[in-house]
Amino acid sequence: MKKRILVTGAKGFIGDHWCRKLISEGHKVDAIDIKNNFNPIISKNYKYYKKSVFNFRLLENLIKKNDYICHFAGIAEPKEYLKRPVEVINLTITPSFEIIKLCNKYKKKIIFTSTSEVYGKSDKIPFLETDDRILGSTQKKRWCYSTAKSMVEHSILAYNDQNKLDFIIFRLFNVYGSGLYGRVVDNFIKKAIKNEDILINGNGKQSRCFLYISDCIDAFYKIVFNNKIKNQIFNIGNNKEIKIIDFAKKIKKILNSKSKIKINSNQMKRIGGYEDIYRRVPNIKKLKYYIKWKPKVNLNNGLKSIIKTYKVK
Ligand SMILES: NC(=O)c1ccc[n+]([C@@H]2O[C@H](COP(=O)([O-])OP(=O)(O)OC[C@H]3O[C@@H](n4cnc5c(N)ncnc54)[C@H](O)[C@@H]3O)[C@@H](O)[C@H]2O)c1
Repeated sequence: MKKRILVTGAKGFIGDHWCRKLISEGHKVDAIDIKNNFNPIISKNYKYYKKSVFNFRLLENLIKKNDYICHFAGIAEPKEYLKRPVEVINLTITPSFEIIKLCNKYKKKIIFTSTSEVYGKSDKIPFLETDDRILGSTQKKRWCYSTAKSMVEHSILAYNDQNKLDFIIFRLFNVYGSGLYGRVVDNFIKKAIKNEDILINGNGKQSRCFLYISDCIDAFYKIVFNNKIKNQIFNIGNNKEIKIIDFAKKIKKILNSKSKIKINSNQMKRIGGYEDIYRRVPNIKKLKYYIKWKPKVNLNNGLKSIIKTYKVK
């Protein structure tokens, strides 16, 4: 059945890919973001509001009219957790609490994008959705993002518990693809294209798992539109791990770049210090169980696709 869906953060990397998928499947989309409507989606089923999620009156009007509320607006660039913790905390928590209340009032399903950061520095690898969160001190600013996202998760779970709020929470693990901005993948690619130094925080032995955007959107769609899946938290990620130093080398190789890789960069130290998470691997058994999903795009192919989009600019 076709649905009407509100997407916040709709001009963001994931929001835009998600809106395009929804439109291509024949759903109606109301899209909110503070950005200009560049490269617009042209469809009678798509309506763009260049507005903030702090506009609670608009939120209420739109939540009333829509079936599903996909709340993706946020600040997802790690350096911003250090530079603008006030905005990160306010944007993550304040509109989310309002959206949760409104979804509860109008009995709408909320879909919230949380993060692998909620597991913090747990060394129980791979992370299972029910695992503990092991976080650093509140005096380390970088934990404000993880904590704020966890608070939103708590609020959703509390409303579900007391008022049967219908929800899906996605914990995302380094999704990449065209339109990504301000994250390690686009940063390394841009440096490698210009043959500039690729700067790595720490010794480069920390690892990440990268998930290509089409695999992420495929998982979202299969979960959100499956009536049998209700009130669940899912890790959304690839369980193939790569050390950041090897990741930088891979990008250099694909691009035949002359960039130098510099470890122990003080780029994050200069803006207040960044306690890195050493390993971050999703357990994806739950996704396999519910939707028989596994990632289709390997890192080499995903990187080649995203690199093409940078080279044409
Ligand atoms: N990409 C990932 O790997 C990843 C990992 C973990 C969590 N997430 C979460 O997924 C969501 C989407 O991430 P993304 O990678 O697309 O990030 P993004 O920064 O590309 O998108 C976020 C969007 O939110 C918008 N926004 C910011 N403030 C707003 C406001 N006041 N009102 C309306 N819109 C506002 C921004 O303009 C931006 O377009 C975020 O909630 C993020 O925390 C993403």
